[in-house]
Amino acid sequence: MIKHTFLTVCALGTLLAANAQNTPAHTYNIQADKIITPIPSTMYGIFFEDINLAADGGVYAELVKNRSFEFNMPLAAWTEHKKDGGDGRIEVINRSAERPENPHYIKTYVNTDAGSFGISNEGFRGMGIKEGEDYTFSVIAKQEGDANVKLNIELHGDNDAIIGKAELLPTDKNWGRYSVKFKSTATVKKAQLYVWLSGKGIIDLDMISMFPEHTWKNRPAGLRADLVQKLADMKPGFLRFPGGCIVEGRDLNNRYQWKKTIGDIDKRENIINRWNTEFKHRPAPDYYQTFGLGFMEYFMTAEDIGASPLPILNCGMACEFNTAEIVPMDQLDPYIQDALDLIEFANGDATTKWGKLRTDLGHPGKFNLKMLGVGNEQWGEQYIERWKVFTKTIKDKYPDIKIVSALGPDPEGDKFDLLNKTFRSLNADILDEHYYRAPKWFLDNARRYDNYDRKGPKIFAGEYAAQSVATVSPDNKNNWTCAIAEAAFMTGLERNAAVVKMASYAPLFAHVDGWQWTPDLIWFDNLNSYGTPNYYVQQLFSLNKGTDVVPLTLNKESVAGQDGCYATASLDKTTNELIIKFVNSGASAQIASFNISGAGYQKQVAVTTLRSDNGDAVNSLENPTAVSPVQSTVSLSGKVLKMNIEPYSLKVIRLKTK
Ligand code: AHR
Repeated sequence: MIKHTFLTVCALGTLLAANAQNTPAHTYNIQADKIITPIPSTMYGIFFEDINLAADGGVYAELVKNRSFEFNMPLAAWTEHKKDGGDGRIEVINRSAERPENPHYIKTYVNTDAGSFGISNEGFRGMGIKEGEDYTFSVIAKQEGDANVKLNIELHGDNDAIIGKAELLPTDKNWGRYSVKFKSTATVKKAQLYVWLSGKGIIDLDMISMFPEHTWKNRPAGLRADLVQKLADMKPGFLRFPGGCIVEGRDLNNRYQWKKTIGDIDKRENIINRWNTEFKHRPAPDYYQTFGLGFMEYFMTAEDIGASPLPILNCGMACEFNTAEIVPMDQLDPYIQDALDLIEFANGDATTKWGKLRTDLGHPGKFNLKMLGVGNEQWGEQYIERWKVFTKTIKDKYPDIKIVSALGPDPEGDKFDLLNKTFRSLNADILDEHYYRAPKWFLDNARRYDNYDRKGPKIFAGEYAAQSVATVSPDNKNNWTCAIAEAAFMTGLERNAAVVKMASYAPLFAHVDGWQWTPDLIWFDNLNSYGTPNYYVQQLFSLNKGTDVVPLTLNKESVAGQDGCYATASLDKTTNELIIKFVNSGASAQIASFNISGAGYQKQVAVTTLRSDNGDAVNSLENPTAVSPVQSTVSLSGKVLKMNIEPYSLKVIRLKTK
């Protein structure tokens, strides 16, 4: 199938370049002194959704799965053990009247002073543990009566070898949090955590947790540093969160509610992850949301990586691919209130209720929220009805907040047309278009925005990825055929920065042992991660976007498919550089001459090339940089830059002003 995809695109490239095997050199004209439009700082960003174990089991560095016993089967991921004559049992207690947001804990009976009774946790497809790294084990516990039950913590590596251990003696008869730090002596991809209990008695346990000390910015109980670093390395203009369909939920009960995701982690109500049951061919019965990565963490991550935050909120509609439940119009208020309160949480000062909460949570500075999504991938009249009330209420109170409005799941068709027409007539701010399409669609649509109304709503290419087989096929690959098609399309987004203000690939993360959806931008296991060819395309566009589009033409036309080539040029006013991004999607090398009018440029020109001759080429944990950028230089001759552009390549060319 992949071969087929490659052949299709090769054939296309070959077709386009049919007479180009010996194509004479093409001369491209760049008017470096003629600005077409500024490129917004938000142009290239990140779409984050907790799909494919992206949050729990992924970027959220918690190693214990089902730490608070809130899965449907409260002891899922846990196993009981006895050794050396030890004996005991566990009761699952449901205190929902007292703690509706965290009803379950375990009451552990240790029946004898002899030996040990204990439990182990399997982690998220195991636990990734690194030699020499410090780990913090913590638990909320209370001893019953006169008990003095001690916890002996062990990390078990390959062949059950003990690779780290610690002891903890909870002292109180009331609930208290206890923690202990210890070092691992080995690197293991699929370790397990054992908690042995010694001393006869009864002890209650909840929130059994273990984190590496080394996290993103070394925040306690924080995020996986290698994964957030990959995001930071993209220098993204925005961070869209928390999705995706997860915003909507399979039903309204299952929707994302931001207020339940902030504050003490033991008070964040766990719910099933909607991707748990979505695909029969990729079941994930152990996929839940602890919200350890909640709205505070999303905002802070956006701030850390210099991205403008873009939260997407439920608009009173569950996923229309699932139950399609909607809340009656006369019960929409709490949903809208959530939106108003979120704006205050992000931007209010400490005199406001929600601004004070943000301050109390340790962040007095405002998050500078400028945009908000109303609904994820909604469609139909019901959406329009709800959108109108949401938008009016938000705009009445916060006229400067830009509303992101969904245009449904497809980039064309009846659903799209209705929303596109309606929202344009209602002067919507930003329209969110999604395209999960074949590589050929991306090549064919590089001119999609050339004739979009510059005075109408702005465009957010909110979710896109070329599909090597078909949307939601588990056989889709993050191969070079797809990545180069996306690069070709992105030249069209950038050329049209007058109307396209934001773009993000989707989905973002996938665990190699726990994914539901492919393709994805960044893949990881419990220890390592790699960027796909698509990641490098995104990164190259983001790092080289420049500040202003300038004309790059072939025979007075923009370059969007001629001989399989696609291009855009921009100035970077902050570094005084001219940047050319050139995609050759065809099978033939191209001899390109760039005639540059305007400023004079230094002779030495920096070139970054991303290419492969094999459309099936992918990166992997074993070979993470098989398709990755390579640096070189070429020489400028006067005002002409002559270059050989290899087949199936993306080149970023940077010329420094003299
Ligand atoms: O990116 C995966 C899913 O695709 C998103 O959750 C949804 O918005 C779209 O259908």
